[in-house]
Amino acid sequence: MHIHVLGSGAGGGFPQWNCNHPISRRARNKEASARPRTQSSIAVSADGRDWFLFNASPDLRQQINDNAVLHPDPNQGLRHSPIKGVVVTNADVDHITGLLTLRESQPLRIYGTRRVLGILGTNTIFNVLNPEFVKREPITLNQPTELQHPDGKVSGIVVVPFAVPGKIALWLEDATKGAGFGSVEEDTIGLEVRDSRGKTAFFYIPGCASMPPELASRLRGAPLVFFDGTLWTDDEMIKGGVGTKTGRRMGHMSVNEPDGTIAAFKDLGVKRKIFIHINTTNPILIEDSAERKACAAAGWEVAYDGMDIKI
Ligand code: MLT
Ligand code: MN
Repeated sequence: MHIHVLGSGAGGGFPQWNCNHPISRRARNKEASARPRTQSSIAVSADGRDWFLFNASPDLRQQINDNAVLHPDPNQGLRHSPIKGVVVTNADVDHITGLLTLRESQPLRIYGTRRVLGILGTNTIFNVLNPEFVKREPITLNQPTELQHPDGKVSGIVVVPFAVPGKIALWLEDATKGAGFGSVEEDTIGLEVRDSRGKTAFFYIPGCASMPPELASRLRGAPLVFFDGTLWTDDEMIKGGVGTKTGRRMGHMSVNEPDGTIAAFKDLGVKRKIFIHINTTNPILIEDSAERKACAAAGWEVAYDGMDIKI
């Protein structure tokens, strides 16, 4: 299995376009220790030739241009893409708007929960993905599904979607619906990825609000987990003067809280742990920061665009 990190930043990327936070500024000033990051997405392949995107970010056009593995094969005719499909884990702007980049009558399969596909269905702009060529495939929680090429060929990549604590996409929040803003279980999922023999390869969880015991047992002993690294502390955006929301309010658990991610993973025996979906204010983005060192000391890596993993 091949994993290629296309984008390791959270919604808005690093630096976010309108952000003057000192950490954003370091990236904008092109400091070597503050490597810029596009928005959250990875590409996964069983053979290194055909790829499935996990989430489609607004930066997808740049991500395709920057990553030769996603370029059309010159031996495959005038129209070709190694991208055979997309799996979306929620309906956030940073995870679905890249679908619009994939128009132009290219055959694809789009996988998501019925809830998220329903959201795409009611937003007719997504019909630019010509339904004659692009199949939308509902995935069912806790049911293994082998991803297929548009022509039905099996990929060798099996995903098991499961609900994680989270919330409805920001742009769909309805304050009249109480504390959850209208969220339902299928709004936010994580993915266990298995090879075609059923062996767990890795987990992909770019958004998660907390670590309930059932999630902890699912992840226990996993070989590799990509996990929500949005904020270092829950009140980081408020303290930094760039926002009014906590991480909790945004549906993200934070890295360095007493009930945060480092603490929650401490005894899970996960062999390789990588933060992804990292916000433009998070000090772990700075390679020589004390917070980055603390991550490393706790056995965590920080994903970067272009990170390549072969399992
Ligand atoms: C998030 O992860 O909280 C979202 O990407 C926020 C957004 O849609 O801007
Ligand atoms: Mn996001």
